Amino acid sequence: MNQHQLKKALSPLPLGDVRYFDSIGSTNNEALAWATSGAKDLSLVIADEQTAGRGRLDRKWFTPKGTALALSLILRPTAAEKLYLTRIVGLAALAATDSLRTRGLVSQIKWPNDVLLNGRKVAGILVESVWSGEEVDGLVIGIGMNVLKGAVPSDGLLFFPATSLEESLGPLVEREKVLHDILAGMIALRPHLSSDSFIASWEKALAFRGEQVQVEQGDGSLLTGKLLGLESDGSLRLTDEQSKSITVRFGDVRLRPRA
Ligand code: ATP
Ligand code: BTN
Repeated sequence: MNQHQLKKALSPLPLGDVRYFDSIGSTNNEALAWATSGAKDLSLVIADEQTAGRGRLDRKWFTPKGTALALSLILRPTAAEKLYLTRIVGLAALAATDSLRTRGLVSQIKWPNDVLLNGRKVAGILVESVWSGEEVDGLVIGIGMNVLKGAVPSDGLLFFPATSLEESLGPLVEREKVLHDILAGMIALRPHLSSDSFIASWEKALAFRGEQVQVEQGDGSLLTGKLLGLESDGSLRLTDEQSKSITVRFGDVRLRPRA
């Protein structure tokens, strides 16, 4: 990553400290360790390559050198924000979709933690916490975004098709600028975390809204229903064929359009 461009892109933002790596295992691991040892609010870990990037449940997230964004932002949640921790994944997803909208691209959020462009995964989000006793003391918001085509893993490695910004915008996308916009978006949305309009915006950005979907749960069982929207905590609201409402909570769940 071009260090000069990176510094320039980050300089207008009220970040804590920044750690940049040409190559790292996982930016989330680095950020979790840093959050445990006193990182300031809005400190950032950013890497040009990850060799052990993680998705949920330790699934692999691929970040080949020079092709993608891999960032982890540390938040020290305020007492008020601690009441809305389950909305943080929405904060990141909305900032990511906004950063694409600025570039003329309409993307959707595949609940709970993916961003789709043209129906393909362009970004993934992994939010993790650091605890102090019973209290959350730090949050790590990890975001991976496929910027250039080289970031997209081959089909054999994927359970869901993937894409990159390059496929829609051509090769001249500047990673540093996209990084700036995602961070600026999260910082701007943060004061609105508790508002109803936050949930409304998140809902509006959901993929498959009003459509029949399948949710595969950790035990392999399948739920099917129409995707209606979100509960106030960000859980997914569906309705089944008998119009009975179903709430899908965060956890080991995979959402798909109904086959
Ligand atoms: P999905 O709905 O895609 O099956 P999931 O929600 O079950 O995803 P996640 O933990 O969100 O799984 O994402 C991890 C998955 O993302 C990996 O198992 C892999 O298939 C896929 N993946 C890994 N790297 C990338 C990448 N750079 N771009 C797109 N997809 C990726
Ligand atoms: C997913 O779709 O499961 C989430 C993928 C999250 C990947 C990002 S890349 C930056 C940060 N570091 C990691 O190891 N994971 C997240």
